[in-house]
Amino acid sequence: MRVKRETINLYLELLKKTILFEIWGKNEIYSPTGLPIPPVLNEFLKSHNWPTVAHSMIGRPRMNQLHEAMETVIKEKVEGDFIETGVWRGGSCIFMRGFLKAYNIHNRKVWVADSFKGLPAPNAEKYPHDKNDTLYTSDYLRVSLEQVQQNFRKYDLLDDQVEFLEGWFKDTLPSAPIGKIAIARLDGDLYESTMDSLTSLYHKVSPGGFIIIDDYELPTCKPAVHDFRQQNTINEPLVRIDPHSVYWRKPKNQIISKLNRIGI
Ligand SMILES: C[S@@+](CC[C@H](N)C(=O)[O-])C[C@H]1O[C@@H](n2cnc3c(N)ncnc32)[C@H](O)[C@@H]1O
Repeated sequence: MRVKRETINLYLELLKKTILFEIWGKNEIYSPTGLPIPPVLNEFLKSHNWPTVAHSMIGRPRMNQLHEAMETVIKEKVEGDFIETGVWRGGSCIFMRGFLKAYNIHNRKVWVADSFKGLPAPNAEKYPHDKNDTLYTSDYLRVSLEQVQQNFRKYDLLDDQVEFLEGWFKDTLPSAPIGKIAIARLDGDLYESTMDSLTSLYHKVSPGGFIIIDDYELPTCKPAVHDFRQQNTINEPLVRIDPHSVYWRKPKNQIISKLNRIGI
């Protein structure tokens, strides 16, 4: 049975609204202390949203960009799976699985990579940019594998097209049995986490595939992106998604790519 495009869009919109908790609370803001948040801080938190109940913290512009990227790779027949490194409660990956389900696509998987116990403590000697990062102390960022799987179940989207990679990226990603990748969504905050993801995954990204950097504007993440791109002579323009995030696409033709200039 062929499902109408309109019905697919309706399902995917509802899925986004649910994952982001938009139906019940707009701009839901997390208060670490439980006390009311001062207006100035409130503005800051809106663009660095740490929600209380939503299953993803990426917000609407980044969720829409993920949606557009998936539509593009399907339309342009860019081969490969979808992966997110750094999934927290799993919302972005749940959306990816929902997308494949809606389009009745069976030959792509969603890879869900996380420690499922929060961020690693900084390895300042190897990665000086991470030196002062304290996110590893945050219990809020620790979401267990069982909790993430339970979240998938809530949407009826946990099945054998979802693969979990549990552990630090440096241990799981190099040997992960992933073939081609169409979309790599990196959301691990740190220099180390970003560099480990790029090093292990970039060569698997198909021509035309997307590399999405959620945390680009973090002082830990940005240098990792620039170092990796420089070391690998990647000149594709970085495309802005929102004030926090960027993406680029792997060139279909490497010769053309080298003629391009860095956009940011
Ligand atoms: C900001 S959250 C991800 C938000 C998520 N993408 C969403 O849709 O809401 C960062 C996640 O990265 C994970 N993480 C960061 N660095 C990691 C590493 N080196 N290895 C494994 N997991 C890591 C943390 O456990 C955490 O779940």
